[in-house]
Amino acid sequence: MHTALDIARSSATAGATILDSMRENMGDVRSKDSATDFVTEADVASGLAIVREILRLDPNARVLVEEPEVCEQLSLEPGALDDHEVWVIDPLDGTTSFLHGFPCFSVSVALVRDGQAIAGAVYNVALGELFSAARGLGAFKDGRPIRCSTASSVRDALLVTGFPYDRGAPLDRQLAVLAAFLRTPVHGIRRDGSAANDCCHVAMGRADGFWEYTLKPWDMAAGAVICAEAGAIVTAADGAPWSASSTSICVANPAVHRDMLAVIDSAD
Ligand code: IPD
Ligand code: CA
Ligand code: CA
Repeated sequence: MHTALDIARSSATAGATILDSMRENMGDVRSKDSATDFVTEADVASGLAIVREILRLDPNARVLVEEPEVCEQLSLEPGALDDHEVWVIDPLDGTTSFLHGFPCFSVSVALVRDGQAIAGAVYNVALGELFSAARGLGAFKDGRPIRCSTASSVRDALLVTGFPYDRGAPLDRQLAVLAAFLRTPVHGIRRDGSAANDCCHVAMGRADGFWEYTLKPWDMAAGAVICAEAGAIVTAADGAPWSASSTSICVANPAVHRDMLAVIDSAD
């Protein structure tokens, strides 16, 4: 019997191995819903490796993968967020960075039970770091426990965020919030192109807070449980409780999180 933590770690590692081997040869690239949202053969190859590993360890698992081709090629009925339990998978989080050879991309695998992420793993491929967590068991980087930062104010914080593919109203909202943080002022704001990595930067304390809008469950689910188990507060960007059907996220230690919600509120 394999635990959810074992399955998350092992399947994320399987996907990361594929991505690492395809960095120089990522196959065909095509646009998805918008001209700036791409998918490569590496996304699908990583997804196949992840799902095969999950099913090897738990043949009854249900999976929800960002790329629908993965379930199609394996003749699997895709899982859904309202399943009692479903593995929610982003086989390549940070496709744009991957595509440009910018070393910030990851694999994200989470087990969602009744809408809440209960275990997950994020493999930061460029740095070779495996983050993982399971509810009640703590959060880990390469097997060792991690905690989020102890910064006492957002004014002492290095924040991470991301920009939406939709360059209309979602971008306007994000730019207003970005300006509010820069004028607070915070120490700095970074954008590396993988929401899953961004959560892990906060979980291990190399960043103090992360917020982003217009995200999908596979961008956030593993990062949400890793942050929560590392002592961070995890909510949607408006402060509502986070669940796998949320479309935004705000994570930070309790003091920084409280300040972040106030800044976001001031920008609305
Ligand atoms: C993207 C990354 C990025 C975030 C985008 C996501 P993808 O995921 O997480 O950091 O800003 O909103 O869609 O498309 O590379 O899997
Ligand atoms: Ca993603
Ligand atoms: Ca992706």
